[in-house]
Amino acid sequence: MRIGVLTGGGDCPGLNAVIRSVVRTAELSYGSEVVGFRNGWRGLLENESTPLSIPRVDGLLTRGGTTLGSARVAPEQLNDGIDRMRDVLATHAVDVLVPIGGEGTLTAAAMLSRAGVPVVGVPKTIDNDIDGTDLTFGFDTAVSIATEMIDRLHTTAESHQRVLLVEVMGRHAGWIALHAGLASGAHLTLVPEEPFDVTEVCKLVTNRFDRGDSHVIVVVSEGATPKPGSMRLRDGGLDEFGHRRFTGVAQQLGDELERRTGKEVRTTVLGHVQRGGTPTSFDRVLATRFGLHATIAAHEGHTGQMVALQGTRIRLVPLADAVARLKTVPAERLAETAAFTG
Ligand code: F6P
Repeated sequence: MRIGVLTGGGDCPGLNAVIRSVVRTAELSYGSEVVGFRNGWRGLLENESTPLSIPRVDGLLTRGGTTLGSARVAPEQLNDGIDRMRDVLATHAVDVLVPIGGEGTLTAAAMLSRAGVPVVGVPKTIDNDIDGTDLTFGFDTAVSIATEMIDRLHTTAESHQRVLLVEVMGRHAGWIALHAGLASGAHLTLVPEEPFDVTEVCKLVTNRFDRGDSHVIVVVSEGATPKPGSMRLRDGGLDEFGHRRFTGVAQQLGDELERRTGKEVRTTVLGHVQRGGTPTSFDRVLATRFGLHATIAAHEGHTGQMVALQGTRIRLVPLADAVARLKTVPAERLAETAAFTG
């Protein structure tokens, strides 16, 4: 059998570990071959490929990023390119395609699957917002990085009796903010799932200083928004992929807090540092297991599926179900933070 692999969307620690796992499993367990397509779907549309073999993936387990390169491709381009992608797969005699990606990549994978292309999806995203799987690799690494950074911000904030706002990634879902906030003892966490009221945030800040606290740490998801009528964020419009362009919610909230409370506020935007570098051991293991089970599924003919972590087991879930909705933070998980924030 020949397996095609590509990595799409934003990169994420653990992508290389999946590629290595697919290649090792395909070659050693099945005597199969693997071909990689470069820069996500673009590699399939433009027929840019590279042969993969065990020596080629040596050392990839610990390396961040993706050796295949990644890119975002507009949905219309994919829609119009189905026949072209099918031809390229046929040219390379690919029997099953294993796309590794987040919401956008997996939605395209489901579309190809509907068009009759055998596909087994592997979910990745630091945002942890893919439905059907308890976790995606990259998330644990991002949370670990954010937690370490917030730990460091605590000490400088308390030295200067400041309010420190830390903006973390999380376009539609606040998983990174929730976990990094809990892990680092943040005083408040703002997520996209629950619009915030600026007056309430000001009250919390003022109360904490009145109580004699030395500092306040607020973790803010980049996708957090104020309640209507509470404060207006600058509008950045939409990018070419239909994503809302962020305009820096933490900085804008920080300016407003300083103005209203008179406290000294500083803002740190963690940005792409959360996606860079080597994956944690947890993410290396999860990525390796995803690659292994995706390759088994491909050989056993379980296509149109996505590998998923459910409890401690790796299962298969229909791709179409996995992309039907995003996995956002449920209200009960937010309620759990009540005793530790405020
Ligand atoms: O989806 C993963 C993610 O890291 C989001 O958290 C973030 O909003 C986005 O990608 C950033 O994308 P880009 O790398 O294109 O700036």
